[in-house]
Amino acid sequence: MNDMSPPGAISSYSVRDGIAVLAINSPPVNALGFPVRKALDEGIRRAVADSAASALVIRCDGRTFFAGADIAEFGGELKLPGLNDIFAVIEGSPKPVIAAIHGTALGGGCELALACHYRCALRSAKLGLPEVSLGLLPGAGGTQRTPRIAGVAMALDLIVGGRPISAAKAETAGMVDRIVDGDLEAEAVAYARQLVTEKAPLRRIRDMSVDLDLEAAQAAITTYRVAHSRQFKGFKAPGHIVQAIEAAVTLPFDQGLAREWELFEELMASTESGAQRHLFFAERAAGKVPDIGRDVKPVDIGSVTVIGAGTMGSGIATAFLNIGLPVTLVDREQQAVERGAANIRKTIAGMVAKGRIAEDEGGRRSALLSTSVDLPGAVSGADLIVEAVFEDLELKKAVFAQIDAAAKADAILASNTSFLDLDAIAAATSRPEQVVGLHFFVPANVMRLLEVVRGEKTSDVVVATGMALGRKLGKVAILSRVCDGFIANRAMAPRQAAADALILEGPLPWEVDRAMVEYGFPMGPFQMVDIVGVDVIGWDRENSAGRTVQEVLCEMGRWGQKKNGGYYDYDEERRAQPSPVAEKIVREMAAKTGADQHRFREPEIVERLLYPVVNEGAKILEEGVALRASDIDVALVTGYGWPVWTGGPMFWADSIGLPAIVAALDATIGADAVSPLLRKLAAEGGSLT
Ligand code: 3HC
Repeated sequence: MNDMSPPGAISSYSVRDGIAVLAINSPPVNALGFPVRKALDEGIRRAVADSAASALVIRCDGRTFFAGADIAEFGGELKLPGLNDIFAVIEGSPKPVIAAIHGTALGGGCELALACHYRCALRSAKLGLPEVSLGLLPGAGGTQRTPRIAGVAMALDLIVGGRPISAAKAETAGMVDRIVDGDLEAEAVAYARQLVTEKAPLRRIRDMSVDLDLEAAQAAITTYRVAHSRQFKGFKAPGHIVQAIEAAVTLPFDQGLAREWELFEELMASTESGAQRHLFFAERAAGKVPDIGRDVKPVDIGSVTVIGAGTMGSGIATAFLNIGLPVTLVDREQQAVERGAANIRKTIAGMVAKGRIAEDEGGRRSALLSTSVDLPGAVSGADLIVEAVFEDLELKKAVFAQIDAAAKADAILASNTSFLDLDAIAAATSRPEQVVGLHFFVPANVMRLLEVVRGEKTSDVVVATGMALGRKLGKVAILSRVCDGFIANRAMAPRQAAADALILEGPLPWEVDRAMVEYGFPMGPFQMVDIVGVDVIGWDRENSAGRTVQEVLCEMGRWGQKKNGGYYDYDEERRAQPSPVAEKIVREMAAKTGADQHRFREPEIVERLLYPVVNEGAKILEEGVALRASDIDVALVTGYGWPVWTGGPMFWADSIGLPAIVAALDATIGADAVSPLLRKLAAEGGSLT
């Protein structure tokens, strides 16, 4: 018996071999928005009432099982039926309901599966409760059913960690009853038939009890809380999740469900979750370039040549090897390429040692690497050439002229420059339309940010290829126009300038760093300078004359961690201590400037350092360097460790209120330096994101 569903309908209902099959079809990812919930509710009720059906299989069309609640609906009024209403109908069904999972059963999708009496899944499927990455918790029974079926420890890992697990692991945990191969619907119907024939009980997870006794379960929760306290810092959701799981242990199911909903609503209303949901959509928006249509197809890249075997070049080469592309690493001296190749092999061996990849996979990746000191020979066959030589415009121009002379006509010529003029580099070639910036962040094989820099003449296909490459590399690609520092480095530069100025007004470098770490950065600006090298952050050795703290430190040879001293002192294990020498230099310099010395509270330090970043972000936006404000947020979160729970500088600024920021900037950096866009938006009651 088949439903005459019109093509493109959201659901279809059929009965196969006495088993009802309800298939939902809501591209792209079958999110559980109102139309889907309505279709589910109707379909389930129909199956329950259908005398021709003795069980119901719920499955999805398209690329995946339900990817969760419809995030775009959040914040608005929830139209009924809600997920818990539907799940009550499923659980209350007198006929077995079986979830048939393919792709990813995530969030509400996983919760739906857990509300079913049985679950079967394709071997390739994954199950997960990733709400934590949206600053939320599973709000449709996930925190109550998971500990009942999979145990408290697994529930904590799955829900606080947020990482999906394979069908096999889910089967071991009891969350999947049968793994199938081949035709999912046919297999699920056969499984349902078997359950009916065997008169299998209607297994309701809600009626199960948690596997541990109360004391043991609470002890496990406390241990988990203590062990993960650092990871929870700044985020609201993990603590709430632990409380919800605690409720599963201590309360009857319905009360636990009510507690879960209360905690879910608290999170939904929080700025932290607003910020994380903003970043979810921001990351997806970043890949879209409005003036490049879908008809512009990225070029397939089959081989890469990386020029420059230093830290950057080696990291870039590793990133490409990790996605299975053959890479030729080039440098001028044999010794240099060999050192670079050895570092790459060491990185790959490290991944094997840590169990991240299998040994044979490590071997395969290493075998894809070759080295050369013959630049023309190494670039002639490559689809993509990435230049990662020293940051010097004349040197880069010369390298590009050499590449131009040898590369094939359709090769893409990329520069990893972090602040030089890409158009000037492109002008050194006969094909500026093939030249693009691919700005990786150190370490290039780890950091998620890739800035794709679009020169004046870069062709659409080359831009599209750069963006697609970013995705293939597992990175977030952000498009930037040419300017000094592009998006991330340019936006963050004012933080360093503000920090340098602030230490002359009272706070010491470590007090400034502490304020940044408390705000949520992995480290403060002076800790970072010490690691990168005090001498490499714009020190003009020739003209150094003790005019700034940095100049004095550099002249004394205090170049940072590598010299056992910079703003901090370091012991043999490179542990940092506030340096009395640096303190004296700062105090003397402060006295010379005659600046008013006083104590700053941490929030004041944060404002002084980070409002200028917001201001620079607004300038980047008004100049059209970034396509959208949310790209700046994604760039700083993925490239600089800007704390996720603030949503990035632009979202953070909106959450504070732009008028307060403009007033503070007027008073500190001066009205002339304030972005006109920021001022206009503040005056109009507008927002950046
Ligand atoms: N709600 C609304 N839209 C969603 C969505 C969701 N849950 N999940 C994905 N989308 C949208 C994306 O925004 C994107 O839209 P676009 O094409 O307009 O940009 C489109 O679907 C495709 O998404 P991706 O580009 O991410 O596609 P991938 O194939 O790379 O990944 C995915 C698919 C693994 C499902 C990934 O989209 C994902 O992780 N989605 C979020 C899953 C999630 O967090 N679920 C929990 C939701 S909260 C919840 O369920 C609360 C409940 O407990 C009450």
